[in-house]
Order: sequence, then structure tokens, then C-alpha cells
Amino acid sequence: MSDTSHHGNGHDQSAEKPKTFEVRILRQNGPGEPSYWERHRVAYEPDMNVISVLQRIAAQASTVEGKKVAPVAWDCNCLEEVCGACTMVINGRVRQSCSALVDRLLDDHPSEIELQPMTKFPVVRDLMVDRSRLFRSLQRVKAWIPVDGYYDLGPGPRQSPESQERAYPLSQCMSCGCCLDACPQFTKVELIRHEGESEEAYQSRKNAAYDSSFVGPHAISQAVLFNAHPTGAMNAKERTDALMEEGGLQICGNAQNCVAVCPKSIPLTTSIAQAGRAATVRMFQRWFDR
Ligand code: SF4
Ligand code: SF4
Ligand code: FES
Repeated sequence: MSDTSHHGNGHDQSAEKPKTFEVRILRQNGPGEPSYWERHRVAYEPDMNVISVLQRIAAQASTVEGKKVAPVAWDCNCLEEVCGACTMVINGRVRQSCSALVDRLLDDHPSEIELQPMTKFPVVRDLMVDRSRLFRSLQRVKAWIPVDGYYDLGPGPRQSPESQERAYPLSQCMSCGCCLDACPQFTKVELIRHEGESEEAYQSRKNAAYDSSFVGPHAISQAVLFNAHPTGAMNAKERTDALMEEGGLQICGNAQNCVAVCPKSIPLTTSIAQAGRAATVRMFQRWFDR
């Protein structure tokens, strides 16, 4: 749940706030480069979020010691906790920077905010990470409704209101990666491009490494979502088969960290249990099909 919904306009502005505050940022100049901490000082204004702090830091382009530095790089898009692009680790917690309100952060940690890139994805630069593995996982489980063509096929099968109600929470996933960053079974996979390696060869090496690693709770939940859809159900076997391959469901140790950090409160462990039951049924089907 975002701070916006809890603390937006109703936040207690009377609490004493500093004139300035420090921002400690874990920076990295490029993929595979060493990381280093850097301190910036920002003038306090009411109702700032972490994105507006980063904008001030980019405009200043100098550290707390007065050293001129390249602007800090970060990703963002929607600015309303819908796209998932601005995810980073803020004061030790993975979350969206657009909905992380400075007033709240300073209440918890007066005078300093700490920003780090997500820990399970390769850093592109500073706070920007490469989340392509997250999208590759969605491809692995075919997290979409297939269409035969773009001509009018008429109305599809009807979905009951009960089934729509169960599906809606799962459909809110914004591919932010918080659940993956928090999951102890989702370990970082980082491949550096070899000298002279073509883009194509690099991509296929990356995809092979991703495909043998844990698919992640977001993809398991999306497989459950599309398997429950009347049209999507036509490919349910393929999705369940994908979840039974190397790096599939069986890797989940049920630590429940994923569900605790999901900003959309998606019932990930319920989805994982449901996918587990579907996998058991599928295993028996496969035996009898032999
Ligand atoms: S329940 Fe499974 S997917 Fe979720 S954090 Fe734990 S190991 Fe990861
Ligand atoms: S399941 Fe939740 S935490 Fe995971 S990617 Fe989707 S919205 Fe983010
Ligand atoms: S910018 Fe889209 S979720 Fe933050």
C-alpha cells in the first residue's frame, strides 16, 4: 500500500522538519562496475517524494562536500504507482520512489534518506536496474491471452462475476519486482557482455541463464490469473508445464516475503498454493497420458 493513500493530505505537517536533509545514494557508473556511496544535501520542502528529491539532486549535480558529479540516474514513468519503473530500496525497504513521501521517511529516519538500487537485478547505472528477467519470466509462463488473428471473433466465453472478483487483485500486478527483490529464492543473475559478443548472442546467453533460474512469484501469480480466464484456460496446461520446469514453482520455499512487500497487496502465496495444486493434478495427467 502506498504512502499516498495513508498519509497524503492527511499527514501531520506540524511535526518539526529540518531545513535540509542528507540523501545517501549507492551509485554505480555502469554494469559490472564497483559501487560507491555518495552524500547529497537537499533543502526540505513539504510534500516532496523521492522522485522530486532526485530531481533536486540532478539539478545540483554536486555532493555534500561540494564535489561536482554526474547527475544520479534513475527510472520513472507514471509517477502514480502504476508502472513499477521507479522501484528502488529506500531506507532498506524495496518500494516505489514516486509514492515514497519525504515527510514520512524523515519521521522514521530524521535528517537522512538512504537510496540503493534493487538488489536482485543487474545495475544499468546508479539507481536504474535491468528488469528484463522479470519480463522473461512472464514470457516463460505465457502470461497473456492468445489471439488467432486481429479479425473479429465475436464475443468470447463469459466470465462469472465471482471469477472476475478473484482475478481482479491478481490483474493489478505492475511488474515492479518488489516481490522478487524480497524473495530469498530469487537470486541475482548478472551476465556481463563479452568483448566482441554480438547483441543477439548476449541476449540468448542471458535468456538461457534466466530460464534455468527461479521464475518468481509474480509470474506464478500471472499464470494463475490467465489460467482462470475462460479463453486463457485453453493454454493452462502449457503454463502449468512451464511452472514445473527447472526454476519453477518447486523452488519456492514459502518464506512469504513476497506477499509482505507487494505494493498492490496481491495474494501471492495464495496464487503459489493454487499453482502447486494445479501442478499436482498436471503431474497425474502426464502419468496417465504416457
Ligand atoms: S513464498 Fe516463495 S516466492 Fe514468496 S518470497 Fe517466499 S520463496 Fe519467494
Ligand atoms: S506481484 Fe506485486 S510486488 Fe510482485 S511485481 Fe507484481 S505488483 Fe510488484
Ligand atoms: S513512476 Fe510508475 S510506479 Fe513510480
